[in-house]
Amino acid sequence: MKIGIIGAGNIGGNLTRRLTALGHQVSVANSRGPETLTGLAEETGAHPVTASEAARGAELVVVTVPLSAVPALPKDFLDGAAPGAVVIDTGNYYPQQRDGRIDAIEEGLPESRWTEQQIGHPVIKAFNGTYAQDILDRGTPAGTPGRQALPVAGDDPAAKQTVRNLIDELGFDTVDAGGLDDSWHQQPGTPVYGSQGDVDTIVKALADASPERTAQWRA
Ligand SMILES: NC(=O)c1ccc[n+]([C@@H]2O[C@H](COP(=O)([O-])OP(=O)(O)OC[C@H]3O[C@@H](n4cnc5c(N)ncnc54)[C@H](OP(=O)(O)O)[C@@H]3O)[C@@H](O)[C@H]2O)c1
Repeated sequence: MKIGIIGAGNIGGNLTRRLTALGHQVSVANSRGPETLTGLAEETGAHPVTASEAARGAELVVVTVPLSAVPALPKDFLDGAAPGAVVIDTGNYYPQQRDGRIDAIEEGLPESRWTEQQIGHPVIKAFNGTYAQDILDRGTPAGTPGRQALPVAGDDPAAKQTVRNLIDELGFDTVDAGGLDDSWHQQPGTPVYGSQGDVDTIVKALADASPERTAQWRA
């Protein structure tokens, strides 16, 4: 697949490493410009590009920047994406540590719904509770007992299936975590957040979640 990754930090960098290793054609961008991504490009074969260019022609786009940086993404950066492009959002709302207060999220809007509104395109929420290192280290073949599973939430069944197939390629099972309005089940502070469990564990953890953000995850 032709994949654009916006954000080349912990998650974006490791997704670039694994997805290029699987043979995908990856373009990757950060905020400082492609000239600062030569190391990652040489290591992986990914194309270093600007954030405006990352989605050009892409069938899949991963938005993996701090939530507070989402409004700063170039306007219409998805305009050149392939028709029907799928967008993954890995984001989390960290008001105290990083993002500051975002009123709509404090008032109950799921963080990925907020991101979707900011970028003007539906998103699939995935990887948000996965340790970046796990993307490199914990993938296993399908059928491996105890294989780690990731929750995936989103409204478009076909887009969600595309993401689930890609995650399977990366070495993880998935659990359908419902639509984006249900995605609070996997937000920071929930039982599933940071879990390395298998499908049964993730199904139970999602069911045990509470919609209220805990004090640690509020402004
Ligand atoms: N770390 C984890 O284990 C983890 C796990 C799951 C989910 N997440 C979530 O995933 C998101 C990314 O986390 P992370 O840890 O990978 O972040 P990170 O290491 O801080 O990296 C953020 C990346 O976003 C880039 N960026 C910032 N503003 C940008 C802009 N306007 N245009 C293009 N690129 C921009 C940064 O580029 P520069 O360096 O050039 O500024 C950097 O490459 C966050 O919402 C986080 O909560 C993180």
